Amino acid sequence: MYKAMGDRLPSEIDLILASGEHRVGALAFGPTSAQPERITPWGGGSAPGEEFTLAELAEAAERAQHVDELDENLRALLAAGSSLGGARPKAATKIGDQPWIAKFQKRGDSFPECRVELATMRLASECGLDVPPLDFRCVLDRDIYLIERFDRIPHGNWLERRPFASGLTMLGAHESEVSSFSYADLAGAIRQFGTEVRQDLHELFRRMLLNILVTNDDDHLRNHGFLFDGEGWRLSPLYDVVPKPQLGLERRLVLGVGPEGRNATIENALAGAAVFDLSHDDAKAIAENMSRTVATRWEQLFTEAGISAADRKRFATCFRLAAPAS
Ligand SMILES: Nc1ncnc2c1ncn2[C@@H]1O[C@H](COP(=O)(O)OP(=O)(O)OP(=O)(O)O)[C@@H](O)[C@H]1O
Ligand SMILES: [Mg+2]
Repeated sequence: MYKAMGDRLPSEIDLILASGEHRVGALAFGPTSAQPERITPWGGGSAPGEEFTLAELAEAAERAQHVDELDENLRALLAAGSSLGGARPKAATKIGDQPWIAKFQKRGDSFPECRVELATMRLASECGLDVPPLDFRCVLDRDIYLIERFDRIPHGNWLERRPFASGLTMLGAHESEVSSFSYADLAGAIRQFGTEVRQDLHELFRRMLLNILVTNDDDHLRNHGFLFDGEGWRLSPLYDVVPKPQLGLERRLVLGVGPEGRNATIENALAGAAVFDLSHDDAKAIAENMSRTVATRWEQLFTEAGISAADRKRFATCFRLAAPAS
C-alpha cells in the first residue's frame, strides 16, 4: 500500500479504508454497508470481487517485494494481498466457493518456509491439534502454502464472516508488551470469555507444548486467535507454526510457559499444567505422546514436503527436545 501511494504517506484512515473485505475480524470498511467496496487512496485499482489465479498472486507477491513503486497491474491485486496482516507475503484466494489464505516465499528466505510450514502444520495435526485443511502448490517454480480460512463460511452466494479476535485483542495488550504475557494469561481469557473452557484449555496446553517441541519461537499474541460462536469465544484453529533452526541450546518462547517464565522446556510446561485444568499425570501423558509423535514423524513429513536432506539436517536441531525414537 505504501508503494502504491508513491510519495504520499498513507494515514491510518487511508489504510483502514483500503483494507477491503478480506480482512479478519467482524468489521469491513467502505462507502456503503451493503457492499463494502474499498476506497483506495491511490485511486482506481480497486477490483472488488475480482478473482486472481494463484500464479498471478504469487508473481505479484514476488514483484511487489522488489519494486519501489507499484504499477497499475499490481495495484489491482492489492485488495487480495494487503489486508491479512502478518509479516510474510500472502493473499486471500478461493478454492471453489471456500476462501483460503495463500502464503508465498519471501525474498531472501534462507529456508523453503512454505514447505516447512506445511510439514509442521501436518505434524501438529498428527499431534492431535485442531488444524485447518492445508494444501500446497508449486506454480512456475514458486512455492505456495495454502490454509483454509476458518473465519469465512460459504452459504451459496452468501459468505458468513465469523468474528475473529487475536490474543492481543482478547488480553487488551499492546504489541510492545507481548513478552510480559503468558499462556496462563490466554488460559485466563478462555476461562473468562470461553464457551468450551476445558476443551480449549487442553488445546492451548498442547499448542504451548508443540511450540516447545518444534522450536516455534514466534508464538506472539497475534499468532493466537479466537472465534466468536454467537455466545462467547472459542480458540480458533491453529495457524502460523514455523520452526526456526537455532544454534544455542537454550530456547525461549515469546509467551511465558510456566513457573520458569519463558523457558521452553517440557518441565516448565508441566509445572504449570494446573492452569490448563490438567493433573500432572495427564499433562505428562500428553507431553510424552506428543514428543513421541514429533520425534518419529517430523523427518518423514519434511521429506514428503520436498525439503532437501541438507535442510532437514539443519532443522533437526529444532526437534531436539522431542523424545528419541524408540
Ligand atoms: N486459516 C486462517 N483462517 C483465518 N485467518 C487466518 C488463518 N491463518 C491466519 N489467519 C490470520 O492471518 C494473519 C496472518 O497469518 P500468519 O500469522 O500465518 O502470517 P505471518 O505473516 O506468518 O505472520 P507473522 O508476522 O506472525 O509471522 C493471522 O495473524 C491471522 O489473523
Ligand atoms: Mg502470524
